[in-house]
Formats: sequence, structure tokens, C-alpha cells
Amino acid sequence: MAFKSGIPPSEITPESVYLKRRDFMKGSVLATAALAGVPLHAAAMDLKPLDYRKASTSSPAGYFTDESQTPFDDIARYNNFYEFGLDKRDPAKYADRLQTRPWTVAIEGEVDRPGTYDLDELLKGVTLEERVYRLRCVEAWSMVVPWVGFPLSALLSRFGPTSRAKYVAFETLYAPEQMPGQKSLFSTIAWPYVEGLRMDEAMHPLTILAVGLYGRVLPNQNGAPLRLVVPWKYGFKSIKSIVKIRLQETQPPTTWSQSAPEEYGFYANVNPFVDHPRWSQRYERRLPSSLLGVNRIPTQLFNGYADQVAPLYRDMDLSRFY
Ligand code: MTE
Repeated sequence: MAFKSGIPPSEITPESVYLKRRDFMKGSVLATAALAGVPLHAAAMDLKPLDYRKASTSSPAGYFTDESQTPFDDIARYNNFYEFGLDKRDPAKYADRLQTRPWTVAIEGEVDRPGTYDLDELLKGVTLEERVYRLRCVEAWSMVVPWVGFPLSALLSRFGPTSRAKYVAFETLYAPEQMPGQKSLFSTIAWPYVEGLRMDEAMHPLTILAVGLYGRVLPNQNGAPLRLVVPWKYGFKSIKSIVKIRLQETQPPTTWSQSAPEEYGFYANVNPFVDHPRWSQRYERRLPSSLLGVNRIPTQLFNGYADQVAPLYRDMDLSRFY
């Protein structure tokens, strides 16, 4: 991904060259190197097991796929979490500094019961369920992840959205002392990381808040203690380590569409027919992948969830609203 906003051209060149080279390299060499070495296991990382309802072929359509699940090792060591650095291996290295308890989530804006709530209080009485989803990054790699979480709609409904609630804005923790990327000179992201959804997207049953994966609490590098997962959109919509959820009447700004608006849009629906200006979106590299086994597969419209979500965009020109 690339940054552009508000930087003098003299400063843009070195970083954009660096980032473009990364885009090229991460397709092969870096991926292999990142995943080499001692395997990482959920149990070894001391992640607490969760109580949850398993997903299976009899779950509602879209909640489960029988495609091979990406090993825990790859999911927890090949990350985008720019708060901890630009390299795919940085989050696994540095995210253990993130303090995930106590953790509060502010619910603001167009709701009857706004407030700042303790996460453990919010999770009381929530039924956790597994969702085995494809995750397709805009950089053209993908995974299959067995998330554990609950529908975002279940949370939003509890606070009584008003009739003026048309969009939902999300915000990640801002804590430079825990997140070295937030004070890095290389970073041109305007922290905190922010994302947003239209209200109907937020209320869709496929949209979840995840608190775990592979049956255990989320590793910090995957967005602990609470992250969004929207499986039919590019991965950058799935904002990590959420501290604020705001319902509002207007479309909220989002981190990547602000950094490079001609490359990343608000909608970010996975679409093999709308290329990124700098690369094709027709295929993806499914992890695990290596130099010898690249595992290249065709990308599906709405990441394979078209039956469930295409009606949300019935009258929209998807190449204009990318
Ligand atoms: N959320 C925050 N706060 N910061 C980030 O840098 N990266 C996004 C998304 N959520 C990101 C984020 C991108 S680009 C992707 S592809 C996914 O997280 C990656 O999730 P994963 O590391 O769990 O695979």
C-alpha cells in the first residue's frame, strides 16, 4: 500500500520507491522468509481458549468454507498492522507490548445509550461463534481464517441506533508508547487508524467483531482484543484493536482512502474486475505460499460472498464506488 497525502515530492520518492519494492518482493521472497523458522502455536503463545459454537457445513451460507484453513503460524506471523511497523513480520515481533486489558470501547453518536463501556462487560452474555472466512488483502494475498466472534449487529442493536444512524465509524487505539509505528518517521498515516461502513453493511449478518481465532483469544498482532471482520471487503476495512464506534449521519473518513484516494476507496469490495491502479486484482496468492508453491488462485467477486451481499450494491457502479 502507498502513502501520498500532503508530503513534499522530495520526500515522497524514497518512501514510495521503498514501498513499491516491498509490494513486488512480498509476493515471493519476504513471504517465504517471514514464515521460516520455529513454528508458532496458539497454545505456545499462551492464548486463552474460548467457549464458542463451531461452524460447519450446516451453518448459514457464507459462515463456513471447507477450503483449507491457513495454519495459525501464517495467520499470526504475516500481518498488516502498521501501528507496529511496515514489515509483515513487525506486528508479531512488537505487538506483545499492547495492553489489551483493561480495555474500553466508546459507543458514540446516533444511539439512545452512548457511553464508554468496559470490554468484558460488553462481552458478558454474548454468544461467541466461529466463522470460517476468506480474508483477501488489497495487496493480492489471501488466507482462510477460523475467527471467533459475534455479529456487529448484535452489539449495535443494544445501544439503540437512531433513525439518523446511516454510517458507522471505527477507531483503533492511539498509544504511541505501546505502538512504535505511531511515532515512526516513516509513517505518514494520520493516526489513529480509522474505518467505516454503511449502516446496512454494518448490520449484515456476515459482519462480525472478532475476539479470537483457532478457538483461542486473538493474538495481539491480529487486532486484540476486538477487531472488525468484513469478509467481502479488502482486508484494510477490517480494523484492529477498536476503542471507538460512532454511529453518524455522514460517511466517515477512512485511513487508506485519505492517504491515497485514487487507489483505495470507502467501499473496498473485493472485485477481480476493478484493478488497483498499480496491479491486477484478478488473482490472489493464498497463504501458505512459497517460492516453489505460489498457490495462485482466481479472486472472486465480493470474495465469494456475492450471493449474500450483492443486493447491497444493486444500483451502484462498482468501478466508480471502489
Ligand atoms: N487495522 C489497523 N488498526 N492497522 C492496520 O495497519 N491493516 C489492515 C487491517 N486492519 C491494519 C488494520 C490490513 S491492510 C489488513 S490486510 C488486515 O488488517 C490484516 O489482518 P491480519 O494481520 O490479521 O491478517
